[in-house]
Amino acid sequence: MSIEGQRVVIIGGSSGIGLGVALHARAAGAHVTIGGRTVERLQAASRALGEVDVVTVDIGDQASVEAVFAPIDHVDHVVICAGTVGPSPVLGSNIEALRAVVEQRLWGAVYTVRAAAPKMQGGSITFTSGGVAARPRVGAAITTAALGAVEALTLALALELAPTRVNCVTPGLVATPLHGSGPAAEARLAERARTLPAGRVGTPDDLALVYLMLMNNPYLTGEVIHIDGGGRYI
Ligand SMILES: NC(=O)c1ccc[n+]([C@@H]2O[C@H](COP(=O)([O-])OP(=O)(O)OC[C@H]3O[C@@H](n4cnc5c(N)ncnc54)[C@H](OP(=O)(O)O)[C@@H]3O)[C@@H](O)[C@H]2O)c1
Repeated sequence: MSIEGQRVVIIGGSSGIGLGVALHARAAGAHVTIGGRTVERLQAASRALGEVDVVTVDIGDQASVEAVFAPIDHVDHVVICAGTVGPSPVLGSNIEALRAVVEQRLWGAVYTVRAAAPKMQGGSITFTSGGVAARPRVGAAITTAALGAVEALTLALALELAPTRVNCVTPGLVATPLHGSGPAAEARLAERARTLPAGRVGTPDDLALVYLMLMNNPYLTGEVIHIDGGGRYI
């Protein structure tokens, strides 16, 4: 299997893990579309990627997601890396802020599938979850719930959308702009790296290899793949 010449759409492809996937997909000869909310981030990513289509999209807005796929006739692979992190405790949060987490994480995945799947014959859809789905921490209850739902949705959609394959990547700690920049952010990551069995935190390249494998391997569907340097065992 090869993705050479295939159409790959990456929502959240302008930074971090999604940008890593875009770079690897481009290197494999795919036609790549990246989406995100911020024009400047998309432009910077586009310069790094070379020949690539860019589209502004907010995954939590159904019309915006539909507009991404409307002009595209055929899609081979869809990757969702869009996501931000913030506090989401059930108590003490603004309820609209909690709804927005579910809107982005769960409904965003649903909006994307509804817009993309009718344009796919086979191929793959890959969601992104996070370690907090199975390992809750105080202050992140709704994120845990929403990402757990995305992992469950993966299994169900592997049946519903077949022969299109549906998988999910669950990253542990990955060094991306999500964690901020500067000496304090670097020190935090270095501190965490020392505790991981892998001895370092992940990179977007590490993650991209997994997303590319999921696009390429025709027997992989309904899987939630953890890549966390062994972090969930410590
Ligand atoms: N890095 C980690 O340690 C880690 C660990 C576990 C899980 N994850 C998950 O992995 C995914 C990628 O994270 P990352 O570390 O690569 O973060 P990142 O570097 O901040 O990249 C996030 C990407 O998603 C886009 N995005 C964010 N919100 C969006 C929205 N509502 N609609 C459309 N695009 C949106 C961003 O562009 P705009 O901001 O311009 O929209 C950017 O392209 C996230 O879902 C994150 O929760 C990351």
